[in-house]
Amino acid sequence: MKTIVKKINEQDMEPGCLREAATILKEEGLVAFPTETVYGLGGDALDFEAAKKIYAAKGRPSDNPLIVHIADVDSLEVLAKEVPEKAYILAKHFWPGPLTMIMKKSEVVPNGTTGGLDTVAIRMPNNKIALQLIRESGVYIAAPSANTSGRPSPTKAEHVVEDLSGKIDMILDGGPVGIGLESTILDLTGEIPTILRPGYITKEMLEEVIGPVTIDKAILSKNIDPNVKPKAPGMKYKHYAPKADLTIVEGPVNAVVREINALAKKQREQGKCVGIIATDETYAKYQADVVKTIGSREDEEQIARGLYGILRDFDELKVDVIYSEGFAESNLGQAIMNRLLKAAGYQVVEV
Ligand code: TXA
Ligand code: MG
Repeated sequence: MKTIVKKINEQDMEPGCLREAATILKEEGLVAFPTETVYGLGGDALDFEAAKKIYAAKGRPSDNPLIVHIADVDSLEVLAKEVPEKAYILAKHFWPGPLTMIMKKSEVVPNGTTGGLDTVAIRMPNNKIALQLIRESGVYIAAPSANTSGRPSPTKAEHVVEDLSGKIDMILDGGPVGIGLESTILDLTGEIPTILRPGYITKEMLEEVIGPVTIDKAILSKNIDPNVKPKAPGMKYKHYAPKADLTIVEGPVNAVVREINALAKKQREQGKCVGIIATDETYAKYQADVVKTIGSREDEEQIARGLYGILRDFDELKVDVIYSEGFAESNLGQAIMNRLLKAAGYQVVEV
């Protein structure tokens, strides 16, 4: 299959380009498009065949459900069996935006989209291209991140081209995304809303609006108890895995730099090619084959935006081992560390 790649400007969208993408979606095809979090791989959420194609293109296990993207709040009533009051309150505060809500699904949502679950994940993305594509096509768009399963999520169209060129109909290139980490997932089916995946919208932000919120235990701990199963099926896979062996080193910054340099030296003596994920503050202090800065420690948003890109860069550079500094787990730091720990397969050295 030849994949059409089209540049599109969020501030000045070319109608012909969107029309072409919308037609593909209406005809059971797949279109990758930008959202504010990461690029999504879209197909008609109510069409069983389209869902099957999404799983095939990504190489994704079919028990891992898809998020349904909508462009107006009224769509909730179509997709959900019952819409909890809190969903409306949250939608008012955070939509369009990086929050996905889980509710009981209605009859119209096929099991192919929800991985056989009786619940559905719904989100309204904060990106004009995405919203216009939903409106123009008239379909609800099921969209996982537009990467090959197991690779870091795409934060620019080039990443989608790397993974999915030749496997999908079209890629809309709207430039680099703003946030860089996938949406916060909040399960509203229980008594107390539960965060199944941390993201840009934090527990504190949610609690300010709807009161108590809990976090799924399985996503918190570093020494994950294999008996505690994450409630979001996707969180159980070793996601976002770079090709090299990644280890996170945590502790006071100066001690971290010393330890990483010592570990890197040992590896290089054994002939290994070593990469380091540093910060602006520490960049100059490292000796290794490749040292890359992810941004300033003071700027969590910059770190979030840069994380997946840097992991992909290291894949290209063919390093054998990567050491990364750890980050504070407050605010956005929780989402950053959640993704970094998964990429590292939970290998952490504390100093
Ligand atoms: O920011 C995002 O959410 C991006 C953009 C494209 O919108 N999408 C995204 O989709 O990250 P994906 O498929 O890569 O991740 C969806 C996650 C998976 O971990 C999946 O298991 C979980 O959402 N999920 C989907 N439906 C669910 C449900 N009904 N119950 C529990 N977890 C669900
Ligand atoms: Mg994903």
